[in-house]
Amino acid sequence: MRNTGPVTVRKLHPLFGAEVSGIDITRPLSAREFGPIRAAFEEHSVLLFRDQPMDDAQQIQFSENFGPLETTLSANPAAGTKFARQSNLDIETGQPIPNDDMRMIYQKANYFWHSDSSFKRIPSLCSMLTARVCPPTGGNTEFLCMRAAWDALPPAIQATVEPLVAEHALAYSRDRVQKGILSAKALAELPPVKQRLYQDNPINGRRALYIGAHAGHIVGWPYDTGRAFLAELMERAQRPEFVFSHEWREGDAIVWDNRAILHRATAYDTVKHKRLMQRTTIGGDAPTVSQ
Ligand code: OGA
Ligand code: MN
Repeated sequence: MRNTGPVTVRKLHPLFGAEVSGIDITRPLSAREFGPIRAAFEEHSVLLFRDQPMDDAQQIQFSENFGPLETTLSANPAAGTKFARQSNLDIETGQPIPNDDMRMIYQKANYFWHSDSSFKRIPSLCSMLTARVCPPTGGNTEFLCMRAAWDALPPAIQATVEPLVAEHALAYSRDRVQKGILSAKALAELPPVKQRLYQDNPINGRRALYIGAHAGHIVGWPYDTGRAFLAELMERAQRPEFVFSHEWREGDAIVWDNRAILHRATAYDTVKHKRLMQRTTIGGDAPTVSQ
């Protein structure tokens, strides 16, 4: 496809999400071609592109339009690369990994609502996930609109939340799957960080509640009180009408705004079916709060 026609943006859900068509994102884009995509990203938070089969190099090239990419940490099978691999396939043999294998257990943390890299001092701007191999059924990715979640909070709770800072760490989400699952190396490379409980979009000012499975407790509060408050906020946020569930087709690519969206994986038959998704993660430009 030559990128000569108009780019079309079609809403996927009343609150957020849009499908972008009329542009081939597998080839290099000029600043003029990328402009409307970036604007749609700031506005809609989740962008779906269909029928864009791509390889790793093409995914990196498109992702870099949003900014520099993060390098994957030791806990993922693709450690040291620009990819986080979400798959039930052994990286060497291409065959399904048994369900009781640590690599499968570890991925179960993706079933909790989260924002990628909220456990990093400078958290991620956005992630891009491409569907390379899809199961015939199941394995949807779900997205939760945290702008709507913020707007739905009673004003008194918004006022409580505003000055707060949460401690985030990868261990908080991984311990929910199985205590002690992270290696000493993984723990050492990721000391806990502080994050504000909201993020404001720099272009349109829309505020989003910023929590999720890596958030452990509230700085300066008794641990259990902070944990319970985070659980209450999560409970308030996850209304069915704030969720968009995406059923993947091979060749799909989705970019989501980690500042404004929580996401989670859903189950599929990992013994019978194959799933291979490649994620690139684009870094943010500043911490949400001084550390
Ligand atoms: C991710 C993620 C969900 C999925 O790639 O960051 O959470 O459905 N993926 O694979
Ligand atoms: Mn994720």
